[in-house]
Amino acid sequence: MEGYNSRLQGWVLPRPINPHAHFRCPQTQREMFDLVVPETAKIYRWATAMPNLQKHRIKTPAQAFEYRRLIQECGKPHNPRFDVTVPFYIEADLDPLVVEDGFHLNAWVAGKLYPKNGTTNSAEGVDFRNISGLWPLFSRMQRLGALLLVHGEVVTFEDGRLVPDRDRETLAISVVQEILEAFPRLKVVFEHISSKATVEAVIRWQDHGYAVEATIAPQYLLWNSTVLFQGGMNPINFSIPILKDEEDRLAILDFMLNGRGMLGTDTAPHDITRKSQHIGCPGGVFNEPVGLFVYFHMFRRYGGEGWFNRFREFACYRAAKFYGLPSASPTDRVLITDGETVIPELYTNGTTRVVPMFAGMVVPYGFKAL
Ligand code: DOR
Ligand code: ZN
Repeated sequence: MEGYNSRLQGWVLPRPINPHAHFRCPQTQREMFDLVVPETAKIYRWATAMPNLQKHRIKTPAQAFEYRRLIQECGKPHNPRFDVTVPFYIEADLDPLVVEDGFHLNAWVAGKLYPKNGTTNSAEGVDFRNISGLWPLFSRMQRLGALLLVHGEVVTFEDGRLVPDRDRETLAISVVQEILEAFPRLKVVFEHISSKATVEAVIRWQDHGYAVEATIAPQYLLWNSTVLFQGGMNPINFSIPILKDEEDRLAILDFMLNGRGMLGTDTAPHDITRKSQHIGCPGGVFNEPVGLFVYFHMFRRYGGEGWFNRFREFACYRAAKFYGLPSASPTDRVLITDGETVIPELYTNGTTRVVPMFAGMVVPYGFKAL
């Protein structure tokens, strides 16, 4: 039975799904790849493996198949059924016919849109000022039923000046609006929402009947921008979009507790040498070891009556339905218990070292696959 199980002394649920994770590049960052894939595989039925791999970013069906194969190979010892879906990386000159081929071959079901130079490994992304250049691609995606995953941040104003970091997501709302108006049946995921304005926009779009979803990453549920500067600068807590105000955090939490949005940790590991770079420190929080506990805790603590069913929908079913991919089979279940999990100070493999979210802390939950 799902829900609280007194014999097991914990909460039983289907294996959850994580439709937003970064595993890095097996060719150029093999140690990192080997270090982080198991952390997702242990927990989730499947994940969306983000394609921002710089030189090896996903552009062809063959690359998507190969990336999926390598992730499966690395994840299988930890969870034999672990799988990933690999989106293609959207570039201005991407041929819609290649996208269509990949879709029919089952190489991918989604494409990821990054704003050019707006975030980590996005140099080959798209300048949102020229978004209508993607209309032929979006038209094809809409027809196929493919998903558009959006990193929603506008980097430059029309005249080329940089948009202040805190305003970038808000400005992307009108870009997504424009896309939806042009392609009203296109499935769109606004990834890792970080502001109240975006929460309101997503609610508006959903209520209007557009096929829009939003992922929520744990750090935006727990933190506001204060954690970046408390006691000095804390780059380990830095991800893009930038953390915002308390009212933004509360709006995202409310949105989730009210039965909207979907899990999507955006776990984004970087080596400690890069995270402590004095210039050009990349955004990204390696949150996979604690992410599921964060969502669980927020639902349990603040979700009120019926919280478990809403948590289960958020963590195990909503992404599967939206992607049109399977949720866990009835026998593939996990257990979350009260207990103590010590989060390592450091994850290391060879010379790679990654500091996780809540490094060195004890979290009051345990996890087990059943
Ligand atoms: O903080 C971030 N890190 N935001 C992104 O959009 C990309 C990610 C990464 O790849 O590290
Ligand atoms: Zn991401």
